[in-house]
Amino acid sequence: TKKHKKILFKNSPCVVTLKDWDSLENDSLSQKGLSVIKNCDVLINDGIISDIGEDLLNKSDNLGEIEVVDSSKYVIIPGLIDCHSHPIFAGSRANETVLKSQGMTYEEISAKGGGIVATMKATRKVTTQELSELYKLNAIDSLARGIVILEAKTGYGLNPVQERKMLEALYEAHSGKDANELPLLCPTYLGPHAASPEYRGLDNYIQALVEDLPNIAALGEEAVKKGISFPLAADIFLERNYFTKEQSERWLGAALQHGLDVHIHSDEFSRSGGAELAAELARRLEQTASKRRQRGRVLTVDHCQYSTESDLGRLALLGVGAVALPTTSFFSKIPYVDAKRFRASGIKVAIGSDFNPGSSPMNNIWFSSYLALSQCGFSLAEVIAGVTINAAFALGLERIYGSLEIGKKAALVAFDGNCVEDFYSSLLGDHVRHVVI
Ligand code: NIG
Ligand code: FE
Repeated sequence: TKKHKKILFKNSPCVVTLKDWDSLENDSLSQKGLSVIKNCDVLINDGIISDIGEDLLNKSDNLGEIEVVDSSKYVIIPGLIDCHSHPIFAGSRANETVLKSQGMTYEEISAKGGGIVATMKATRKVTTQELSELYKLNAIDSLARGIVILEAKTGYGLNPVQERKMLEALYEAHSGKDANELPLLCPTYLGPHAASPEYRGLDNYIQALVEDLPNIAALGEEAVKKGISFPLAADIFLERNYFTKEQSERWLGAALQHGLDVHIHSDEFSRSGGAELAAELARRLEQTASKRRQRGRVLTVDHCQYSTESDLGRLALLGVGAVALPTTSFFSKIPYVDAKRFRASGIKVAIGSDFNPGSSPMNNIWFSSYLALSQCGFSLAEVIAGVTINAAFALGLERIYGSLEIGKKAALVAFDGNCVEDFYSSLLGDHVRHVVI
């Protein structure tokens, strides 16, 4: 809502601030680090959280014109952040959902011309404007379920021109008249998502993408200047039958040089080397930090089924995060990550939807959160942190978003409930009543 300058969420039985997230306890019964405050108000002033505490109306004089939301039946948490999503595409791959249910694997389907290439064909057929409209439908859905920041990857264009079209479609959606109906945009350029039909060999495609990087980085900067987007990041699918570690190093190294932050899809079907590469890149950046003006960071390794505890431990020490994507395991029938491994390594783990038309055809972070709890062994506290403050960390935004703290941006969700466990009173997010950005 942008109508009122001041909003007071009054008398919530349970406000989850996540203020002390660094001391988050991993035991499912403990709420330490979640910082749960009972019978509490949250005051928003001009887009910023200006106070959190009991009975703020009576305590502060002179609040002036203010919208008061009776929150006595709502739990209030920081706005949800979907830090890994592919919400912009055309066409349908529902046939693959059926095939996978009948026992075919994601990799077999891709080898037969399905998978990413099938969505590429459909996405290339539509105009920028049409693509933008399709994306908006998905983004509106995300917002309705409490997503305040949506990471959106390109990756279905698969040549420089078509990839740029995807990025332009995202920017078009967020600069148009409906921009206020959408979550905030965190765009990621995933040109190297799969082989390009126009280029013989993956090396040649990487070369073409690297050559186009200055244009892409400039588009990203322009969108930030216009205030319609967070900075553009870069990503790659490092996996057997997709891009190699060497190709990934080339691409991500170039992206970092252009000041882009980077993510890596990796270790999903095999220990493909993404965690190792992320550590190498992050270490290199650390060593040259003082000499560089522009600053791209290695933000996350995503998927991580086959990352070892020591891979993850090394990343943790370098300040790189991990992203778990349990919905992909559910739909693609591949192993779930094990929360114990992340916990032992000390890495900050976010939980994303990985929403895409193929491997994870469900745009619902609540369901992803439920799978994280029930199938991966994350605690309730870890799950809530995973879709708020750790997801902000995964996008490099944790200093301004992700927790309810005085001075931070006012991005929050109020859902039906009395206690923190009511997070799970709906597994689909239809208990969300208010979303503030
Ligand atoms: O994250 N792993 C690579 N990319 C997507 C799949 C995209 C697709 O199948 O369209 C993922 O699962
Ligand atoms: Fe993905």
